[in-house]
Amino acid sequence: MKKILITGGAGFIGSHVVRLFVNKYPNYQIVNLDKLTYAGNLANLTDIEKKPNYEFVKGDIVDAEFINNLFCKYKFDGVIHLAAESHVDRSITNPLEFVMTNVIGTVNLLNAAKANWLQIPSHIGTDGKEFRFYHVSTDEVYGSLGETGMFTENTGYDPHSPYSASKASSDHFVRAYHDTYGLNIAISNCSNNYGSYHFPEKLIPLSINNIKNNKPIPIYGKGENIRDWLWVEDHARAIDLIYHKAKTGTTYNIGGHNEWTNIDLIHLLCKIMDKKLNRTPGDSAKLITYVKDRAGHDLRYAIDSSKLQNELGWTPSLQFEEGLEKTVDWYLQNSEWLNNITSGDYKKYYEKQYSKR
Ligand code: NAD
Ligand code: TYD
Repeated sequence: MKKILITGGAGFIGSHVVRLFVNKYPNYQIVNLDKLTYAGNLANLTDIEKKPNYEFVKGDIVDAEFINNLFCKYKFDGVIHLAAESHVDRSITNPLEFVMTNVIGTVNLLNAAKANWLQIPSHIGTDGKEFRFYHVSTDEVYGSLGETGMFTENTGYDPHSPYSASKASSDHFVRAYHDTYGLNIAISNCSNNYGSYHFPEKLIPLSINNIKNNKPIPIYGKGENIRDWLWVEDHARAIDLIYHKAKTGTTYNIGGHNEWTNIDLIHLLCKIMDKKLNRTPGDSAKLITYVKDRAGHDLRYAIDSSKLQNELGWTPSLQFEEGLEKTVDWYLQNSEWLNNITSGDYKKYYEKQYSKR
């Protein structure tokens, strides 16, 4: 039985990846390692938590000794690394936390993989090169586009936020462990995800929650920034393909060919919410409130995912309108999940974040 470590599996994307692997591969043992920060929530995984091929371990990737002991104990065959501090606004107020988890945490995992797979004659008597370290990263490492063009796998790194700088650094370390020590790595850089279990500090779930509660929808600056949105389950499918099929040392970009200005996206969301909440058309849009822009706010992200489509046959499965409607339905049907998340510390975060704007 193959043992795969998935880090950050209690978060938004990680929970979808864990669910996909646990259900699709009953012959794999999936170990989900997560610190359960504010963004990690075991309620994201209640449907699979009792499956015999799933195990949760609480722990911090910044703790090198703990990570090495975990590798010794489980003798993993592969790692899919998603654990990270992931919110740009939080990185602006607390950059060091992003360096610790995203950079040091990643290097700790790389060191444990190197020591346990390449230095100790492998636990199954091979040279260890078949053990894969897959690093899940973001398109934000490429920086910001003007009105035209798209990020390809050859676009130079140009991160602007502490978040993207920390992810860029971790990507460089992962490649360095391939080039220097021969670690079998793969990296993917994905555009903005949306869907169920998304923590309501990011644009789409925050706006759904605020519209539902008749609170202002905060739009940074003029709302003209552009993001390329991808259904989270399509990202999880891409991760599955890349983990199993990518040649060692390869990078793939993942994106939905689905660019929206923030303000157009919010107008579409308001239309859907009016319909779902039986409100008069136009009611939700009255909540749109322009607030102070984010410092260093990247103008536009757009991903060219043709390499992934051509080489591994991946395509996004959902049109955005359909995916957004499904997302709204999920949040409206899962009020208990949303209420639990938005009580306690979330309220303090929200007030601190938006009272300054
Ligand atoms: P998230 O914030 O929802 O989840 C992160 C998870 O990591 C949480 O469960 C958290 O508890 C865990 N974690 C944080 N610090 C940890 C530590 N020190 N040790 C162990 N666990 C820790 O993030 P997400 O949106 O699901 O993103 C997952 C990954 O995908 C990240 O690496 C992110 O950079 C990348 N990514 C995200 C997006 C997006 O749109 N959300 C797009 C592209 C790439
Ligand atoms: P976000 O969901 O934080 O993702 P990222 O910064 O990683 O792209 O933000 C998406 C876009 O929405 C980004 O341009 C910032 C903007 N935004 C707002 O206008 N208002 C908000 O309250 C938030 C959280 C984001």
